[in-house]
Amino acid sequence: MKIILASDHGGTNLRKEAAAVLDELEIPYEDIGCDCEGSVDYPDYALPAAERVASGEFDKGILICGTGIGMSISANKVKGVRAALVHDLFSAKATREHNNSNILCMGERVIGPGLAAEIVRTWVSTDYEGGRHENRVGKIAEYENK
Ligand code: RB5
Repeated sequence: MKIILASDHGGTNLRKEAAAVLDELEIPYEDIGCDCEGSVDYPDYALPAAERVASGEFDKGILICGTGIGMSISANKVKGVRAALVHDLFSAKATREHNNSNILCMGERVIGPGLAAEIVRTWVSTDYEGGRHENRVGKIAEYENK
């Protein structure tokens, strides 16, 4: 599994927290920033990262901003991306099992580093269940391909 990691200025600390978890789990990743002093625009990080997941270059992505909302809205514009905004452990597990989410979004101004780290651990280690969910996820792809 290879993961792409990105944030805007509002998510830098949590992005570093996520990177530390991936280091601990020995999961390879590329961190594309931001390495910013001032503020940046979240679509400038979400869209290229999402495209690199959709193209298959990366298996998954983790995107962080202040709320996680801007990142999730942006990433979900990219065909083939299923970005999930997650701030609890139940959703972290469920969105992998049911939605086969390929991007995890979180908000640094919403949750603390301890919970974020647990969410990353749960999300990267939970498999998609397929089965009855396949038809539902398939309908999203069908819509994208219209
Ligand atoms: C930046 O101030 C903030 O708007 C951004 O990090 C994010 O929360 C947007 O959804």
